[in-house]
Amino acid sequence: MLAGKRILLIIGGGIAAYKCLDLIRRLQEHGAAVTPVMTRAAQQFVTPLSVAALAGEKAYTDLFDLTDEAEMGHIQLSRVADLVVVAPATADLMAKMAGGHADDLATTLLMATDTPVMIAPSMNIRMWERASTQRNLATLQGDGMHVVGPNEGGMACGEYGPGRMAEPFEIIEAIGRVLANGPLKGKRVLVTSGPTHEPIDPVRYIANRSSGAQGTAIASALAALGADVIFVTGPADVLPPAGVEVIAVQSAAEMLDAVEGVLPVDAGVFAAAVADWRVKRESGSKIKKVKGALPILEFAENPDILAEVSQMKKGRPGLVVGFAAETDDVVDNATAKRQRKGCDWIVANDVSPETGIMGGSENAVHLITDAGVEGWPRMGKDQVARKLAERIAGALA
Ligand code: C5P
Repeated sequence: MLAGKRILLIIGGGIAAYKCLDLIRRLQEHGAAVTPVMTRAAQQFVTPLSVAALAGEKAYTDLFDLTDEAEMGHIQLSRVADLVVVAPATADLMAKMAGGHADDLATTLLMATDTPVMIAPSMNIRMWERASTQRNLATLQGDGMHVVGPNEGGMACGEYGPGRMAEPFEIIEAIGRVLANGPLKGKRVLVTSGPTHEPIDPVRYIANRSSGAQGTAIASALAALGADVIFVTGPADVLPPAGVEVIAVQSAAEMLDAVEGVLPVDAGVFAAAVADWRVKRESGSKIKKVKGALPILEFAENPDILAEVSQMKKGRPGLVVGFAAETDDVVDNATAKRQRKGCDWIVANDVSPETGIMGGSENAVHLITDAGVEGWPRMGKDQVARKLAERIAGALA
């Protein structure tokens, strides 16, 4: 995937620096060469010897090293790679980058480089949530830097939350997307995914069994073909893919707002299992259990996001793809749904419990377009995603 590519890997001073040893190995497995640079603090966590031994190249550490400057000046070093990756990007390193500091080799290279930069932030949850870090993040994104992670989970400091550095495989996926020169390069594609949660009161909600697996796989496959993917996701079981813009929502109303906010796009794939109804009057406080008196919930219809976008007079995406999860007369129902909603394509699947599709790893779909109905054999959700992404690339070409 990365054959012939060179990554300038700037290792920052955080405990996640240990993952960089694995990252170097995995990058090489994908055909990339790695030129490592370490900050002073990084050398407290892993040694330049380990890094150099794995990279098969010198680990650069010092801005004022006469030997280095004689062999390859720091400006030249900043230009050797196809991509600069900062991992882990600590709060301090992000602040220096956002402020334009250049007081050591790493920050000077980041100032001098003319290649794209990706950061993999990693820090304690409070440091991540600190307003200054979030400001710096917004600045770096505004400057066009790519961001992968952080993930949520347990951290070396014993706390739990967002702040864990993305795993090496996720960083490599994200690198693949940035360096991809695929057929969807320059195309903006929206993907909705996951279930929605419709609140009853502050602690209860109505939901469905969607895992978000198919929508996530589609977002990942589209990004792998070079698309700029905006991923609007309800509370799914699976993590969003790396290298896409994620907008997390809870309810159908929030999903509609998010979708309207990201238009215009070249294509929209509506894979979310949006709840059809919400509770008409959400209670502001927890509904009390009263013996013998059952609560009566009145429902209201949710907006049909796919139908609204499909029927837009202005700003409709060039290609709108909907899904139809059916348990009976799959093709007939889905064909009628395509007409009713006004989308261009429908991906129809049978979600009867015996198929194991809802929440499972495989899917058997029919693609319904104005050219007719195509039955695809049962295959992994990843394969369905890749096939669909290729079809979308064909349609947008
Ligand atoms: O009507 P039904 O829920 O079967 O339609 C499924 C398709 O419509 C999916 O593409 C789903 O993402 C989309 N949808 C939507 N908003 C809703 C309901 C469904 O976008 N409120």
